[in-house]
Amino acid sequence: MRTLTVPLVDRAYEIHIGRDLLSRPECLASQLARHASVAVVTNTTVAPLYLPTLRQTLAVCDRRALEIVLPDGEAYKNWQTLNQVFDALLEAHCERETLLLALGGGVIGDTAGFAAACYQRGMPFLQLPTTLLAQVDSSVGGKTAINHPLGKNMIGAFYQPQGVLADIATLDTLPDRELSAGLAEVIKYGLIRDADFLDWLEISLPGLRARNATLLEEAVYRACCHKAEIVAADEREKGERALLNLGHTFGHAIETELGYGVWLHGEAVAAGTVMAARLSARLGWLAGAEVARVEALFTAAGLPVRGPKLGETRYLGRMRHDKKVQAGKLRLVLLKTLGKAVVRDAPETEVIAAAIRESCAG
Ligand code: NAD
Ligand code: GLY
Repeated sequence: MRTLTVPLVDRAYEIHIGRDLLSRPECLASQLARHASVAVVTNTTVAPLYLPTLRQTLAVCDRRALEIVLPDGEAYKNWQTLNQVFDALLEAHCERETLLLALGGGVIGDTAGFAAACYQRGMPFLQLPTTLLAQVDSSVGGKTAINHPLGKNMIGAFYQPQGVLADIATLDTLPDRELSAGLAEVIKYGLIRDADFLDWLEISLPGLRARNATLLEEAVYRACCHKAEIVAADEREKGERALLNLGHTFGHAIETELGYGVWLHGEAVAAGTVMAARLSARLGWLAGAEVARVEALFTAAGLPVRGPKLGETRYLGRMRHDKKVQAGKLRLVLLKTLGKAVVRDAPETEVIAAAIRESCAG
């Protein structure tokens, strides 16, 4: 098991990464010791796979958790599902000090995390991520949210977990398409701040897709090191943390326009990052060969490099609702070179539209 710390003042917490952590009582014991009661939030897909193991581990620690099993899917990351969590917690008389365990992918982590932020004005929670995307990104850093019909992750809170337990063995059951979606966020770290990691990924992507356990653990560890460093420096996204949204302004437009869940988040991020790369090339920052390298990385990860042909008006309409809009002005994460991202005021609409047009399929 490898452990690293998210060094936040007052709220530092540990990320444990390794195989079969969910079945090791010692990984949960110290957290459980501080709380009289426990609740688990998971979904209908993850519950049959990993809830029995977690139940057993909790039993060894002399605990029996309230189990809240939500419907599965991005389309359920909404008010109704959030209320389902509140209803269950209230009906079971859960207290402010009840420990909430979020067992699942990013949808569960974001929803349960937001529920934890709100329930009785804040209850402690642990992230037990079971997708690659959640292990490398969403479980770390305290961004919690649900979607609104008008925009992704628009209703939420910054609320840090008390710890993260990334059990790499859970990735064994992850569908290939979901594994690829997680790789989009792994590649992101290389593009924004670590050119050496891109070199490593170019060699390692076939092994990662074949689920080589050593490579997966290394990728999760290196990604979490980046995430922990960025979050510690800029928890509330006043600066560097915004770089983690590379490709997301375009990607969120795809997800919202097509309907949540039609394209996976990581797929939309991949196509959105290619749009950001092409825009960066139009601004004279990236060479054509570098854009081609970005596309090759995503292709090697099994991800789309062309967005759906929605028309630039629909893209731009959605992008105006982005959370990085300041005083009505859109800001975008762009690439100065591979391994260095910047946030800049968006260039003229026609330049963005041209980059979108050349990045769409069909
Ligand atoms: P997800 O949570 O929908 O999980 C993907 C699918 O895999 C689901 O069907 C899920 O039930 C299933 N699954 C989960 N673990 C499994 C396992 N071990 N074996 C088999 N199936 C499993 O999607 P995701 O990609 O994990 O997360 C995407 C979400 O994360 C989006 O809503 C996105 O906005 C959010 N996100 C949040 C942050 C953040 O910082 N909070 C960062 C990136 C993404
Ligand atoms: N996934 C973006 C962030 O955590 O800031």
